[in-house]
Amino acid sequence: MANTLLIYGSLTGNTEGVSHKVQEILRTKGKEIEVKNAIDSDLPDLTAPYETFILACSTWDDGLPASDFNDFIERISSNLPSLAGKKIAILGLGDSNYVHFCGATTIIEELFVGKMGGQKIIDTLRIDGYPDMEENQTVISAWTDKLAELI
Ligand SMILES: Cc1cc2nc3c(=O)[nH]c(=O)nc-3n(C[C@H](O)[C@H](O)[C@H](O)COP(=O)(O)O)c2cc1C
Repeated sequence: MANTLLIYGSLTGNTEGVSHKVQEILRTKGKEIEVKNAIDSDLPDLTAPYETFILACSTWDDGLPASDFNDFIERISSNLPSLAGKKIAILGLGDSNYVHFCGATTIIEELFVGKMGGQKIIDTLRIDGYPDMEENQTVISAWTDKLAELI
C-alpha cells in the first residue's frame, strides 16, 4: 500500500489531470501515491494507514467544492474521523474572475485540518485558469517538488 492517497474532485477533468501529473512527478522521486476520485471515496479511505492525504478539488457554484467532492464530504460528515498525526496537502483549481476564487480549498482546509485535525504541511496550491498553461505547469511542478521533500 502506498503511504500517500490523493483524493480529487473534478467536473470537467482539469483537477483529474493535475492529480495524475502530481502522481507522475512524485513517482519519479520514488514516492508511491494512489489517486482516487472522490466519487469512489468514503470513510475507510481516511481511516486506512496512509501517512499523507493530498486533497485536490476545483471550485464551482459560488465557491463550493465540485459536486463529486461535496458528496464525499456529505458521506463522511456524520462520522468525521480524526486525522491527527496525518499530513495534509491541498490543491485547488479555479478562476480568479469568480468572487470565491478556489473557495473549495478553504472549505477543505476547515474540514480536514480544522475539524479532523490533520497537519497542513505545505501552502495550498491554487491554480488559476487552465492547468495546461505554461505558467500553471511550472507552479504545479514546483509545488510538487517541494511536497516530495515533505512526505
Ligand atoms: C459555472 C462555473 C462556475 C465556477 N465557479 C467558480 C468559483 O466559484 N470559483 C472559482 O475559483 N472557479 C470557478 N469556476 C472555474 C472552475 O473551477 C475551473 O474551470 C476548473 O478548472 C474546473 O476544474 P474541474 O474540471 O476539475 O472541475 C467555475 C466554472 C464554471 C464553468
